[in-house]
Amino acid sequence: MEYIEVRSGNKLLGQVKIEGAKNAVLPILAGALLADHGETVITNAPILSDVFMMNNVIKHLNTDIEFNEETNTIKINATRELKNEAPFEYVSKMRASIVVMGPLLARTGHAKVAMPGGCAIGKRPIDLHLKGFQALGATITQTNGYIEAKADKLKGARIYLDFPSVGATQNIMMAAVKAEGTTVIENVAREPEIVDLAIYLNKMGAQIVGAGTESIRIEGVSSLKGIEHAVVQDRIEAGTFMVAAAATGGNVLIQDGLMEHNRPLISKLIEMGATVTEEAAGIRVIGPKVLQPADITTLPHPGFPTDMQAQMSVLMTLASGTSVLSETVFENRFQHLEEMKRMGAKFRVSGNVAYIDGVLGFQGAEVSATDLRAAAALIIAGLVADGVTKVHHLEYLDRGYYNFHKKLQKLGASVERINDEVKATQTFN
Ligand code: UD1
Repeated sequence: MEYIEVRSGNKLLGQVKIEGAKNAVLPILAGALLADHGETVITNAPILSDVFMMNNVIKHLNTDIEFNEETNTIKINATRELKNEAPFEYVSKMRASIVVMGPLLARTGHAKVAMPGGCAIGKRPIDLHLKGFQALGATITQTNGYIEAKADKLKGARIYLDFPSVGATQNIMMAAVKAEGTTVIENVAREPEIVDLAIYLNKMGAQIVGAGTESIRIEGVSSLKGIEHAVVQDRIEAGTFMVAAAATGGNVLIQDGLMEHNRPLISKLIEMGATVTEEAAGIRVIGPKVLQPADITTLPHPGFPTDMQAQMSVLMTLASGTSVLSETVFENRFQHLEEMKRMGAKFRVSGNVAYIDGVLGFQGAEVSATDLRAAAALIIAGLVADGVTKVHHLEYLDRGYYNFHKKLQKLGASVERINDEVKATQTFN
């Protein structure tokens, strides 16, 4: 089993390059299924296990797909007749693969996808996705662990989402681009990844307006073509390095960082004592000597992102006072705190609120990542812990961070990725 070994002591200094956003490229890959002519070329695609997984799903649906990892480019030809089914072996490994349902329904009138289960951070139902498909005229059935959506012809409709779900917004948007007439989706997610998807779909020939606001309006078109698109930068990877800089009292430039995608995070970092400035080359974060406590509530964009919650809990533990952290997006996203307890964190959880006592430091320990962002948070905690920290379950980290340890090394951190088997053989020899 591989693990990451972290030793503290070094402030992070230098600059870091951020990849294309995982949460943007996954729906964009699914969107390539809509192109009935022409080739799709996706550039700035991050090299992540979730991306390989989505590529497998797309390939399984009878497309040609090629990932050039040297150039971060994925080429897709989806012009053949598509298959309709995304089987359990894929959906069970990555819930985000349900976002193929909308494009399949639009393109072929039939989508069959294994029912995604819950996951480490919550139950994560897909009722809003299905409600949207139904409003567009699809019939939904559920048998033997599969959800099926069928429609002879999708028709534009007015849809109100009870919650601004990111996945539901993307899935319904992609189902509606070829529906007859006008679709209006209200109370939609406003994340930058939604905006990137709309820009991409519009280049393909879709007619979408309002992405990034509370309401999206779509005029159906009859055909979409393959085009070239560069994936937007990963604001969560950028945010993770901002937190790492702040935690270590470092000075890091996030190359080409976009202030407007990270406003809620930046405002909290400043409140906690960090200096955050916009430069021509990106965003600079300078960590303070002493971090101040903060109150944070996660919310849909433009509120504070749930995907930055675990990393912020590290800063809160390092602060000089008690912080309050409320998680309102997912119902079970405090598991990383239990792991941080092994490293000396002190907190009390009541419902969806964690009261975190600033203990001004961590002790090195052996810990396990419980989800993707928890993996990054534990490594950041290790950067400032006394002694050695070993973080296990790197399969979570690899879903969303490319070469995380190498980027930290370049900033001066003492971080190694260790393959236990190799080490054991070397010791034996
Ligand atoms: C996406 C992101 C994930 C991020 C999350 C919230 C991707 C691949 N993943 O996940 O990193 O943490 O947005 O910003 O982009 N819900 C329902 N019914 C539904 C759909 C969602 O009740 O039909 C609930 C979920 O259980 C959850 C909340 O809505 O509590 C938010 O989920 P959603 O915005 O859909 O997140 P994802 O698209 O799954």
